[in-house]
Amino acid sequence: MSDKERANFGSKLGIILASAGSAVGLGNIWRFPCEVGENGGAAFILVYLVCVFFLGVPVMVSEFLIGRHSHANTATAYQILAPRTPWKTVGLMGVFAGFLILSYYTVVAGWTLEYMVSATAGRLSGAKDFTRHFNEFVANPWKPVLYMTVFMLLTHAVIVRGVKDGIEKFSKVMMPMLLLIIGILVVCSFSMPGSSEGLRFLLKPDFSKITAKVVLSAMGQAFFSLSLGMGCLCTYASYFGKEANLMKTAGSVALIDTIVAVMSGFIIFPAVYSVPGLSPDAGPGLVFVTLPNVFNIAFGNIPWLGYLFSVMFYVLLVLAALTSTISLHEVATAYIHESYGISRRKGAYIVTGGCIVLGALCSLSFGVLSDFKLGGMILFDCFDFLSAKFLMPLGGMLISLFTGWYLDRRLVWEEVTNDGKLRISFFRFYIFLLRYVAPLAIGVIFVNELLRS
Ligand code: PHE
Repeated sequence: MSDKERANFGSKLGIILASAGSAVGLGNIWRFPCEVGENGGAAFILVYLVCVFFLGVPVMVSEFLIGRHSHANTATAYQILAPRTPWKTVGLMGVFAGFLILSYYTVVAGWTLEYMVSATAGRLSGAKDFTRHFNEFVANPWKPVLYMTVFMLLTHAVIVRGVKDGIEKFSKVMMPMLLLIIGILVVCSFSMPGSSEGLRFLLKPDFSKITAKVVLSAMGQAFFSLSLGMGCLCTYASYFGKEANLMKTAGSVALIDTIVAVMSGFIIFPAVYSVPGLSPDAGPGLVFVTLPNVFNIAFGNIPWLGYLFSVMFYVLLVLAALTSTISLHEVATAYIHESYGISRRKGAYIVTGGCIVLGALCSLSFGVLSDFKLGGMILFDCFDFLSAKFLMPLGGMLISLFTGWYLDRRLVWEEVTNDGKLRISFFRFYIFLLRYVAPLAIGVIFVNELLRS
């Protein structure tokens, strides 16, 4: 397909909002606060910030330049930049990882959809055993599968509209809505009695908790949260125009992603601390078990406020998850469309159908298929391990080696400076990070994760 026929994002704002939409997701609102709760509050946040800006941003710029230079899906991009070399595998690994992540991520996205519906219907109000509620729901043989399927179809509906009329248009509506809801919820959460205790927890660094393992978790979290290492942002960048400033865009995306993650902490911790006896280090159950309790107990006297808070919170989760599933879907759709000459619409159907089947299996692994284990893990955990803990860090390391060592320095410079039109002061530092710091640091996470499991 010639460059002229290929779709492009229409505006700079569209580029930033679509890429930030990919980055901002359940990783920020669900996973980040759990990690902060378990790993020493502000101290973890500081380590996380270092990982985002010194490892995440350089790798993001690399993905951007690979995508924009080649104007192709992530698998073809490596073939164009490194013809007849094994580098093509990096792109293929990305497509495969995206497919796996989409399959299990949509299961959790489906849970958020069910919680949004339940919250709106008032089913999360009143005293209840929310642990039992959650465990029974995820183990149910059809309900979570149904919600996962609906979520996948919502994603599909955006993808088939195309890059400009689908992805860009929806990101431009959903991201501002998401940011507005976050702002409202932060204010609500701060105004709860006892919330200062939560703020103190979040702002007081406990450096005694920072061990090597915690540093590695922070790096892994930064990669997952910024959607790095699997070609998502490379695919989006293939739709960037010539005038996009790659460094600035990467900086803005990282900033928005980090602000949303920290704000989610500001929403969750003051709220959790306002109810005595609830624990902030509840792990993954935090948003599905602890928070429904908070909404009920803390707002016991003003139930309508609790109702509003809970509905808005789950709408926020659904929006965040949707902008991420769209970007994951696009990686595989663009690949099938461009590499096999299948129409975009048909390609999207193949991806949606395949992910619904795999997603159903992942969902059922919490219930009827819980005895089926691969490497000692249920299917959901196995997919998470293989993609987020194995393929993403490996992809991130290879991408930094590819840009730092393999690619012609002149090509990298031309992409980053838009053929010399932009003044980029840290170009050498950027190359240094890519050549030495990123591969070494990511290599350490990678080996460590493998040894731990
Ligand atoms: N960054 C997303 C999140 O934080 C997850 C994601 C990973 C999306 C990889 C796309 C690619 O939830």
